Amino acid sequence: MINCLTLLAALLPFTLAAPTVSSARRDAASDDYMTLTCSLPTDSRFLVYALSLEQLVFAFYDSSLSLLSADDFRAAGHPDYVRRGYEQILKTYQAHSDYLVNEITNLGDPDASGHCDYAFPVKSTEDFINMSEAMQALAVSAYAGALEHSHSDKYTTAFGEMLGLEARYATWISTAVKYQDLADMSFESPLKLNDTWTIAGGYVTSCPPGTVPDDIFPKGLNDWPILTVPDTVRPGESISISFPNTLYTAEDTLFAGFMTGMNTESYPLIGNADGSFSVTVPQSIVGKGAVWLYVIKGDGSSVRDDKMVAGPALLMMAANQEKGGAESALKNNTWSW
Ligand SMILES: *[C@@H]1O[C@H](CO)[C@@H](O)[C@H](O)[C@H]1NC(C)=O
Ligand SMILES: *[C@@H]1O[C@H](CO)[C@@H](O)[C@H](O)[C@H]1NC(C)=O
Ligand SMILES: *[C@@H]1O[C@H](CO)[C@@H](O)[C@H](O)[C@H]1NC(C)=O
Repeated sequence: MINCLTLLAALLPFTLAAPTVSSARRDAASDDYMTLTCSLPTDSRFLVYALSLEQLVFAFYDSSLSLLSADDFRAAGHPDYVRRGYEQILKTYQAHSDYLVNEITNLGDPDASGHCDYAFPVKSTEDFINMSEAMQALAVSAYAGALEHSHSDKYTTAFGEMLGLEARYATWISTAVKYQDLADMSFESPLKLNDTWTIAGGYVTSCPPGTVPDDIFPKGLNDWPILTVPDTVRPGESISISFPNTLYTAEDTLFAGFMTGMNTESYPLIGNADGSFSVTVPQSIVGKGAVWLYVIKGDGSSVRDDKMVAGPALLMMAANQEKGGAESALKNNTWSW
């Protein structure tokens, strides 16, 4: 007799590692070899979600460090401690993944070993370093936002212990690698589960057949429409942004919400003739580090799942740079997913 656990044991070597969205996820889910459904308990779903994020980021560091040698880092002008630091970060992601796999197993749900395939647009050391900044911002905000979904003190504590490292690495990259000042922030910015899910999905190229996200991840995950922002965003300047019109109607008033820590400042969007929208980037985000940009509807007062229109995109608002000057820190400082 095939029971739920046996079936999951057969599937999970692939599915536990599947973070993610997009067509790769949907293709895998629609494969008709998986028609039975099994449901993981809430605690396990939460851990599987975290594991998928750890494995995605592990894949990013692992593939990038395989591509870029110590000589590549030297040629790009970095001291040897930079690549060594990234090797330590890679080791941490492996350790976090091992911990989560172990806990999921201890909860009575099967082990995980394989994963989906991912692709990252890294060609040079500079691409890698910039993208590592974005990945750490994602990891920090994902953990900050996921904590409220923990149903056990044990995992709340463990997540706090992992979040601390994510934040240390984010700061190490901005200060020790990119020589920036400390960001002017007192709280981290929490991403919602749907937000992280949307972003992670952009990096999945394929998942093995049989993956049924609804059975192993937290229930009701959504992919938001992609918010496209210019490569460079400067406070005080007007930018043009675009996104698919699937989550709003002509009656909705749309806002750009700039989230820094516990605050979101919202400004009404102005529609352009070509279907894009304009908004002036507020001066208040200068030097804030990772700023998440959302498009929301309603009265603009809150970033909530039921008010989402598109995003989030990431704006890296570097504090002044000692090396290279403040202006250079604001070039290519955005991430649209
Ligand atoms: C994702 O957003 C939808 C609303 O569109 C919400 O119902 C759902 O609970 C959210 N998913 C999670 C896992 O928070
Ligand atoms: C990397 O980020 C810096 C700002 O921190 C920017 O000046 C540079 O153009 C970026 N490089 C690439 C390749 O995106
Ligand atoms: C940086 O931005 C410019 C346009 O502002 C773009 O042409 C270029 O491809 C970007 N570079 C990278 C590495 O993203």
